[in-house]
Amino acid sequence: MADIKEEFQKRFQKIPDHIFFSPGRVNLIGEHIDYNGGNVMPCAISLGTYLAVSKNTDKVFRFRCLNFPETAELHLQNSYTKSGKEWYNYPLGILNQVIALGHPVSGLDMLFEGNLPIGAGLSSSASIEVLMAYALDQLFQLNLPKVEIALISKKVENEFIGVNCGIMDQFAVTFGEKDKAILLNCDTLDYALLPFDTGDYSLVIINTNKTRSLADSKYNERFAQCGAALKALKKEIDARNLCDIDIETFQSYKYLIADPVLEKRALHVISENFRVNKAAKVLNENNLDEFGELMYQSHESLKELYEVSGIELDTIVEFCKTYRDCIGARMTGAGFGGCAIALVDKKKIGDFGQGLAEFYKARIGYEPTVFASEIGYGVRECSGL
Ligand code: GLA
Repeated sequence: MADIKEEFQKRFQKIPDHIFFSPGRVNLIGEHIDYNGGNVMPCAISLGTYLAVSKNTDKVFRFRCLNFPETAELHLQNSYTKSGKEWYNYPLGILNQVIALGHPVSGLDMLFEGNLPIGAGLSSSASIEVLMAYALDQLFQLNLPKVEIALISKKVENEFIGVNCGIMDQFAVTFGEKDKAILLNCDTLDYALLPFDTGDYSLVIINTNKTRSLADSKYNERFAQCGAALKALKKEIDARNLCDIDIETFQSYKYLIADPVLEKRALHVISENFRVNKAAKVLNENNLDEFGELMYQSHESLKELYEVSGIELDTIVEFCKTYRDCIGARMTGAGFGGCAIALVDKKKIGDFGQGLAEFYKARIGYEPTVFASEIGYGVRECSGL
């Protein structure tokens, strides 16, 4: 934080008026469920994105970032369009949306800095979107309800960036609380904060270090497949979302889905939603072993039915299953590379990391990155300036 303040001074010859922070997230369980109207269980992590910012009087938005060389300087206007694949499209999309909603904004000097691995499935994009929406809200007293900040950010990801994501990531980075998992109903946006007490275990994040981009991935294809499966089931079933359907009903009506691939996709969604509810129950009973077992089941379903895993993520989970002091693991986020999470005995993390690195390297050719993460707070202004 001291760094970003200094760097801001170097670039803008003044000290920033504010520094805001927005986290990344991991999803504990409930994958590819949010756009199917079911329950998910993400939490905010302590890594994320910072924004040092001051208002200016020349009605110019200056975008700078310590992680990327590209910069942008844009006069205040009625709307903006996405330009290429540059990082500043994310905050620019938010600015565009806030202006479209009729909120009064004016020039800003901005310096962003993130410590999340980019494109690794920890929601670096939701982090920067929510950060910008929150900063605009605070700086121009827009009085946006928190849920509006999450919804604006999702809309930008869907329409400005072009990824059909659900609400999970933006909601998690907005509403995260320390040591709490968020049990979110993605249809109603009702949520509960569940104490995530891991006792002798740590939540470990493992980056496959396989780069991938959500927009380029098969994410939008899965989204469309779920829509097609729902459409087929709706011929006989009264459901708004795939997650409105329970497993028994699905088994009786799955004949309506002609394509076996679509049937597998729907089965994953419906069974994963069921697992989330079970996971919430066992978490309440403090039964971490059972929670870990559900994580393994979730991974299996994502691998076999939803087909969004891959050799890198599968290798990590395979190692975890053989490691005695790991009680559960799964891929987290969209998949196709990115990160896995695991519950590992706190005293064994070093040994776990070493064993995993060897196992993984032998098969994949390079090492993964292993780090223990804290479950942290959602978007906020940093104090102590
Ligand atoms: C990405 C999307 C989320 C969610 C997950 C999969 O992170 O942004 O909306 O769909 O994938 O659970």
